[in-house]
Amino acid sequence: MQAKHPIGVFDSGYGGLTVLREIVKTLPDHDFLYMGDNARAPYGPRSFETVYQYTLEAVQWFFDQGCELVILACNTASAKALRTIQQRDLPQMAPGKRVLGVIRPTTEIIGRFSHTGKVGILGTAGTVKSNSYRLEIARFFPEVEVFQEACPMWVPLIENNEYQHAGADYFVEKDIRALLGQCREMDTILLACTHYPLLLPKIRQFVPENITLVTQGEIVAHSLSVYLKNHPEIAEKCGRQSKRIFYTTDDVTDFDNHASYFFGDSIASRHLDLGRK
Ligand code: DGL
Repeated sequence: MQAKHPIGVFDSGYGGLTVLREIVKTLPDHDFLYMGDNARAPYGPRSFETVYQYTLEAVQWFFDQGCELVILACNTASAKALRTIQQRDLPQMAPGKRVLGVIRPTTEIIGRFSHTGKVGILGTAGTVKSNSYRLEIARFFPEVEVFQEACPMWVPLIENNEYQHAGADYFVEKDIRALLGQCREMDTILLACTHYPLLLPKIRQFVPENITLVTQGEIVAHSLSVYLKNHPEIAEKCGRQSKRIFYTTDDVTDFDNHASYFFGDSIASRHLDLGRK
């Protein structure tokens, strides 16, 4: 019988857990292997080359663990590394394996949330500078106008466990004001960083009620379930015993505390060193 392997889920740190939580709700019997590169987060301010290099190392690690399918549950990695990995590296590294990101499934449907056709994007500096959202949304919804604001302090606040404290309010309000100031008719704001749902209660405080806030977890989860239905050759290699294994490149206790917020208190993550072979 053919061996079955978990689906890999990758993020620079804790953010991908907001996506994995929704994926697990949608595909509860599948096996998942999560890895957060917390030791090297945030990825947002790093160069294209660095994010690409870190992401490629992560993808190689997932493949070494046997994963046939890896989800980059990180917008920055999806924006800066995914295309090169899919087009240049995968055909040599592992032609039968697949790597998917979070930008495509989101941009395919984001226009449906907006009546005014004015959509705001909040993301890391890397995601915003890459212009990936603007370019991809233009393909699916050419009539939609996109406004973007980078929020460079948000991921560090989350990775340093400061996101529930009052100090975070300053940066959240400042960046939201800057985005809202770009267009009065904006009626939809996408949290285009998988860390940001952790700040949702604070974000909501500063965003008027009439504006729809869109998070990516459910969107990515739905898209993955459709992908597996459409790709039985990948789906049949995926394990389905509800196993969940977590790795972090940093401190396991910190990681377990964060992960328990999403998945209950039974998380016992393992440590790995990436890029130090
Ligand atoms: N969760 C990552 C994203 O979606 C955060 C990137 C970072 O580490 O700055 O972009």
